[in-house]
Amino acid sequence: MELLWLLLLLLMASSTSSRSEMKAGEVIRRSQFPEDFFFGTASSAYQYEGAVREGGRGPSIWDTFTHNHPEKIANGSNGDIAIDSYHRYKEDVGIMKGLGLNAYRFSVSWPRILPNGKLSGGVNLEGIKYYNNLIDELISKGVEPFVTLFHWDSPQALEQQYGGFLSNLIVEDFRDYADICFREFGDRVKYWITFNEPWSFSIGGYSNGILAPGRCSSQGKSGCSKGDSGREPYIVAHNQLLAHAAVVQIYREKYQGGQKGKIGIAIVSNWMIPYEDSKEDKHATKRALDFMYGWFMDPLTKGDYPVSMRTLVGNRLPRFTKEQSKAINGSFDFIGLNYYTARYIQGTKQDSNSHKSYSTDSLTNERGNHSRTLFSVLQLIELLC
Ligand SMILES: *[C@@H]1O[C@H](CO)[C@@H](O)[C@H](O)[C@H]1NC(C)=O
Ligand SMILES: *[C@@H]1O[C@H](CO)[C@@H](O)[C@H](O)[C@H]1NC(C)=O
Ligand SMILES: *[C@@H]1O[C@H](CO)[C@@H](O)[C@H](O)[C@H]1NC(C)=O
Repeated sequence: MELLWLLLLLLMASSTSSRSEMKAGEVIRRSQFPEDFFFGTASSAYQYEGAVREGGRGPSIWDTFTHNHPEKIANGSNGDIAIDSYHRYKEDVGIMKGLGLNAYRFSVSWPRILPNGKLSGGVNLEGIKYYNNLIDELISKGVEPFVTLFHWDSPQALEQQYGGFLSNLIVEDFRDYADICFREFGDRVKYWITFNEPWSFSIGGYSNGILAPGRCSSQGKSGCSKGDSGREPYIVAHNQLLAHAAVVQIYREKYQGGQKGKIGIAIVSNWMIPYEDSKEDKHATKRALDFMYGWFMDPLTKGDYPVSMRTLVGNRLPRFTKEQSKAINGSFDFIGLNYYTARYIQGTKQDSNSHKSYSTDSLTNERGNHSRTLFSVLQLIELLC
């Protein structure tokens, strides 16, 4: 299993940033950071908790994926035990405290709260108790909890019932699940992240099939038995955005006034750099950024997908109604950005014979050259601030 260690840059939209010059070789000190800057660590439920058949938890699509497709996971591994944080969370929090950290971002496992995915299937009180214990332990050690509601482990029951995030029905069930989390944990949790890397879930799960639920076109490199890499990633991203907006709306209407927390989303993007100093590669670079960063940021800040995506993907890209567009536009108090690397981008030509896929829709190719990564972090942050 590919472990995604997150370099988490929490850019609080409300905080002011001041830039000071760093010299080479200079030691970075904590005192150089603003007092309210968080130094933290982050995890996802399936990669950490283990105890997958304990405490009333229902199966998620990751249990199914790792057990049905061990060939897709490094060493045929799975999260059955993981690092056993379900049992050893006190030790884990102690280590955080020992490191001098003052924030921990973790995700709640939806099927640990709702084993059948839906409210009508019953709420698992043992699951709620586990997260209450974890939150209380963090707070008692001076570690601020940042809670992610969805880190890719949707309930297997909903996958079987209506295809999980391929269906618009997921919006209502996700809202019910989030409502429980706000109600039960919101007195102590002041930072909520609705989705972690919706891009990765869409692409890994539905375009190249390397993540759960492992769907992609049969024509692709990995050749999945089910899926459509030219349609499904767009549908799944669309439903994640709609679910995000619905949950932010319920938090703002029912909870934010009393609980006084903040809610946002954590997206992921590479920075893109033209491979050659040509007009073609510069345009391609803009398109590549649109297809990874703009795919989510444009709906969140403008209420619609980037023009390049609407043009190139055409009727395979779902549309927002006026009402949905209004609900998504501005539906965040902060934006989290997971940043890993940069890519050199080259423009490509349309190939009318090829099977339609997200991976070719942007008419770009990636060229490896990772040596300018730090530089690109600074460019991306400039774009955001
Ligand atoms: C796979 O197993 C080998 C042998 O136990 C180990 O050395 C290696 O680190 C494992 N790889 C991963 C990715 O877990
Ligand atoms: C989205 O929000 C921005 C900023 O509030 C506003 O300027 C813009 O008109 C909105 N767009 C739509 C389509 O509602
Ligand atoms: C990668 O980028 C560095 C820095 O711009 C450059 O010096 C190097 O030649 C590039 N390598 C390739 C293979 O393009």
